[in-house]
Amino acid sequence: MNRVYNFSAGPSQLPEEVLQKAADEMLDYEGTGMSVMEMSHRSKAFQGIIDHASDMFRELMHIPENYEILFLQGGASQQFSAIPLNMMNKSGKADYIVTGQWAKKALAEAQRYGDAKAVASSADKTFTYIPKTTREDFRDDADYVYICANNTIYGTRFKPDEIPDTGDIPLVADFSSLVLSEVFDISKFGVVYAGAQKNMGPAGVVVAAIRKDLIGNAREDTPTMLDWKTQADAGSLYNTPPCYSIYICGLVFDWVKEHGGVEGMEAINKEKSQMLYDYLDNSKMFKGTVVPEDRSLMNVPFVIGDKDLEAKFVKEAEAAGLVNLKGHRTVGGMRASIYNAMPKEGVEALIAFMKKFEEENS
Ligand SMILES: Cc1ncc(COP(=O)(O)O)c(C=O)c1O
Repeated sequence: MNRVYNFSAGPSQLPEEVLQKAADEMLDYEGTGMSVMEMSHRSKAFQGIIDHASDMFRELMHIPENYEILFLQGGASQQFSAIPLNMMNKSGKADYIVTGQWAKKALAEAQRYGDAKAVASSADKTFTYIPKTTREDFRDDADYVYICANNTIYGTRFKPDEIPDTGDIPLVADFSSLVLSEVFDISKFGVVYAGAQKNMGPAGVVVAAIRKDLIGNAREDTPTMLDWKTQADAGSLYNTPPCYSIYICGLVFDWVKEHGGVEGMEAINKEKSQMLYDYLDNSKMFKGTVVPEDRSLMNVPFVIGDKDLEAKFVKEAEAAGLVNLKGHRTVGGMRASIYNAMPKEGVEALIAFMKKFEEENS
């Protein structure tokens, strides 16, 4: 077996222990004589799996009891529609902070349903920073304010102590690429949701924490499956859920707990990302693209500024077992996604490779 260090932005590397446990349980999950993939979602065994995943997510993220935890389908993008459908229900207004492609897509979707407005944006500098806002930037009667907490493509993040102050207006956050990586005070948000395929498990499933008072107010024309109340009333089992993905998420949650919880992840993520940023700040060849104060702990974009040399770097890195370092197609350059499951050794190997490449090519 030859595993690589996989720097993909998502789907991305999962902890090896989790994959091993899933492999061990593939043919016979805890004496049921079947795989989780083959199991009825109405069975006692699966009920145990989803309850465990839900409890673990609440525990790890310190989610208060007045929040519902839901397992939803359709990926994070489906929530771009579900959010306005469930929440644009008083004034029909919503304020978005546009910090990259994903926030932009979410805004465009909300504009189909009501008066969704970009109240701040970092598009003027190719999304290389997080615009600062104050309560006055948001409309008093907005039904919600929306942010993308970590911008996977551009490598910026809202820091836990710099979450926008929205007063009484519920704040909705896309946590897809930073969930479980750093401690956030969930009570500051109305809704946080995350696609699983970066820090939790296989693509398709979305895990959401939604304040209970924000459920049950969906617009009349909301499709049944997109109404959060449908899944809240059914314990996320209104229809057949992505059972296997939920099971893997549960195993990942156990792994996070064994490694010190989100607090433990945060400490190691800060160390891993700092090592890489320090190298970038001192390199003559490679440069980070984001302003230092808004740098992501999870996605680190960098450039050389010479397309041929960048292509050579990506190719040679791949041959050295450091894969998926090509930057997003809209940005170019390189991007190292260093989610929870990327071991420190992977980042060390990347830095050693960059040093060698710099020596050989300058
Ligand atoms: C921050 C963020 N939001 C949303 C998405 C879209 O997720 P999905 O493909 O699950 O719809 C992504 C995908 O990479 C993402 O990084």
